[in-house]
Amino acid sequence: MQDDFAESLLGWFELHGRHDLPWQDDKSVYRVWLSEIMLQQTQVAAVIPYYQRFLNRFPTIQSLADASIDEVLQLWQGLGYYARARNLHCAAQIMRDQHDGKFPTSMEDTLNLPGVGRSTAGAILTFASDQSWPILDGNVKRVLARCYQVTGWYGQTTTMKQLWQLAETNTPDSKTDDYNQAVMDLGATVCLKSKPKCDQCPLTSNCLSFLHQTQDRFPEKKPRKLKPTKHTLMLLHRYQDSVLLYRRPPTGIWGGLWSLPEVDDIDEIADWQERCLMCQYPTLSISEKLIRHQFTHFSLDISVAEIELRALPKKISDNENIEFVEFNRLAEYGLPTPVRKILK
Ligand code: ADE
Repeated sequence: MQDDFAESLLGWFELHGRHDLPWQDDKSVYRVWLSEIMLQQTQVAAVIPYYQRFLNRFPTIQSLADASIDEVLQLWQGLGYYARARNLHCAAQIMRDQHDGKFPTSMEDTLNLPGVGRSTAGAILTFASDQSWPILDGNVKRVLARCYQVTGWYGQTTTMKQLWQLAETNTPDSKTDDYNQAVMDLGATVCLKSKPKCDQCPLTSNCLSFLHQTQDRFPEKKPRKLKPTKHTLMLLHRYQDSVLLYRRPPTGIWGGLWSLPEVDDIDEIADWQERCLMCQYPTLSISEKLIRHQFTHFSLDISVAEIELRALPKKISDNENIEFVEFNRLAEYGLPTPVRKILK
């Protein structure tokens, strides 16, 4: 253990760390687990309202395990990375069925839960079970990469090995919960991606990037390829005050959410209708304005084709992934953000 590194951080944490986050007042493992999953790749401010609504609706592991996936996804909509919600639901069912309804206490069992990697498992077990494990989330990676001028980027095995090694050697055996929270807080509030506030940092005497004024060069970035743009055409079938929704497959983008059916271009509309509705309808109009939605690895340009129906398709009830939903009931469905915008 590097004593002065941990000691400097712990001293800073007492005065400047975050001590009043909603998941810090009652550290039951369920609450800590939920917060750590929501905080994966998402900032604290965005998480707080979702966290509180989710806990109100699902106050226990049991209530989450017994819920329908639709209801879980509905509460998650807008937070993004929906695999997290599906994994959370699935993990709650594993606990209900295999762990006596409880969150596991060993690292090995915790790592076997879907959606829980090494860093998240370390955070949960230190915060809720008073164990001592290193963590390495995005903030911690940045702090360590700067302090030690770690070369390479996060996708590289040797870089990640080095960072985990540094995380292990710096993590103290006692007060690990405070230390882990401290290093995350330092990354989130002081050791910022751009313009780090080194004048407020307790680690400047340990930090090679500060010493050499190379804060901009670390962590090293992966050379970026241009983000590709994809196109899609969404089908908005309207019948009176209802709209046709389609449940997306459980995995992949927007997995399990209700959305509008999609085709690649106009020529495929009739084909889709023939296949899924067993009949065809004329297209009213295709929007000229594109809706652009940004994903991490690509942009999606969405056009919308409006189709007004004079009667409900007969075959629709055979397909459980297609429903006509009244506009005033849309709030009950988990919809991707751009689709909700379109329907407004
Ligand atoms: N990001 C991940 N876990 C966190 C936590 N416990 N507090 C603040 N930000 C976090």
